[in-house]
Amino acid sequence: MDAMTHEQNYRFDVAGYMIVPGVLTAAELAACNGALDQLDARAGRLRWQGPVSNPLVALRQHPVLLWYAQQLCGEQARLDTPLQLVAERTAAEPLQNGGEWVDWSRAYRQYNGERFCQGIRAYWALVDINEADGGPVAIQGSHNSTVEAPQDLVAGCDEMGLVEQVELRAGDLLLCAESLTRGFRPWRGEGPQRLVECGFIGGDVRPSAESMVPESGEAMPGWADELDPFQRAILHNPDRSYPPPVVHSDGAKTWFAEEPGVHHPSIFIRDPDSAIDEKEFYHWDLCGHLVIKGVMDEEWLKVANAAIDENPDRISHGGSAAGDSTPLAGSGVGRSSLGNPWTLPDPHGEPFRRMIADPALVQRLNWIMGSGYECMQCSGFLSGKGSSGHFLHSPATPARVTNHYRQQNGRVYAEYLNVAWQLRDVKPEYGGFVCVPGSHKTAYAMPDGIRTCENEMGLVKHVAMEAGDVLLFLASAQAHGAYPWMGEENRRMIFFQYRSRGLYRS
Ligand SMILES: [Fe+2]
Repeated sequence: MDAMTHEQNYRFDVAGYMIVPGVLTAAELAACNGALDQLDARAGRLRWQGPVSNPLVALRQHPVLLWYAQQLCGEQARLDTPLQLVAERTAAEPLQNGGEWVDWSRAYRQYNGERFCQGIRAYWALVDINEADGGPVAIQGSHNSTVEAPQDLVAGCDEMGLVEQVELRAGDLLLCAESLTRGFRPWRGEGPQRLVECGFIGGDVRPSAESMVPESGEAMPGWADELDPFQRAILHNPDRSYPPPVVHSDGAKTWFAEEPGVHHPSIFIRDPDSAIDEKEFYHWDLCGHLVIKGVMDEEWLKVANAAIDENPDRISHGGSAAGDSTPLAGSGVGRSSLGNPWTLPDPHGEPFRRMIADPALVQRLNWIMGSGYECMQCSGFLSGKGSSGHFLHSPATPARVTNHYRQQNGRVYAEYLNVAWQLRDVKPEYGGFVCVPGSHKTAYAMPDGIRTCENEMGLVKHVAMEAGDVLLFLASAQAHGAYPWMGEENRRMIFFQYRSRGLYRS
């Protein structure tokens, strides 16, 4: 292969991690596991202890790993974090990495058609890691997040439906952008965890302390002895430790912070009066969709459902939206829909007109689009069991006027928003709405396998909901569609589209 495939680029750009399956042969696996047994290896750095270590050492220079390191971090990619046996966690631990503050030396960014992936962490699975085993977890798309992760999420008190276990087969290679938010759950597998990691960085960025060598082999010049401590702290030192000392200044005098670290102030402070819930803001920006729980009460659900029950003549049937997709085709039952439910004869239109400017919705629309949005259309999605899904559509790339998404200085910008009110529960096995969380930020076009769900690459996510919940999603920037409807009762989703004040034609 000359370069990563389009699918691999899309996968890594959307998710921030990818699995290269079955890289190690059975013989290589046996040799590595045999070496760990023989060395009685403990968690932590794997040092060379004679020829018995050779199969393990080979992991850090495996040609497949080196090839991906160069693809992602550039041709000058180099080993930065030495080979380590990942510790089996016995208790829950906070997640690591990601976040709003950027460490450019390990950051991920697409800019002007260039990918800057400054660091990757590679994990070799030497045993199977199944879904219930614990071990590695990651947050899809978090390498592209520019919003501070909520404390509850980082601490593990509230996973927000975002923390996913990574399943691996023995011999797989897991590659993570260094800035991906990730961690480890307590290990519950039958045998030992047997996950070996190492890290690579781009050629131009600062190595970690473990692999730092003085740039020139020189010390500071003799005249530097006469400098004061602040001047010495700031003058280039070829043998400087990291993190460097922090020199503070008020403009008139300088002083050292008590501890070394990074001081990188922001001009902005968080606004406690913005009426934005920080978990919702993070979820929205990370994924491109959001579920507001329990907006409709029992009475509202009752009258809305009754309005549909009593107007069967307004429901139209037939057609498929699966396109050429086999997985989304369903069993040939036509889709059912209800146009303009807000125009149903009195009193049946009222429960849908109420939805246009519901306060819970308006509060979110204000920070998602800015004021001045217009409600453009309303329809009911009422398909029965076996009716087709909808091929995935509305990718962020190629860019158009209508599909732009951005978060800047604490504001999100979007031009089209879909709002889907759930009149009945949507359990995972029922099908319905699916999306690719994080795809609103990708620089790569949506692959055909995603469009048809014939190759989901682990990226397509079903969104389970309850009656009364309201789903908001980026109508034109987040790749989305639907699985065939498989619930015993018909689907009952009322769909609205909102257009921002910034657009004119649909
Ligand atoms: Fe759509």
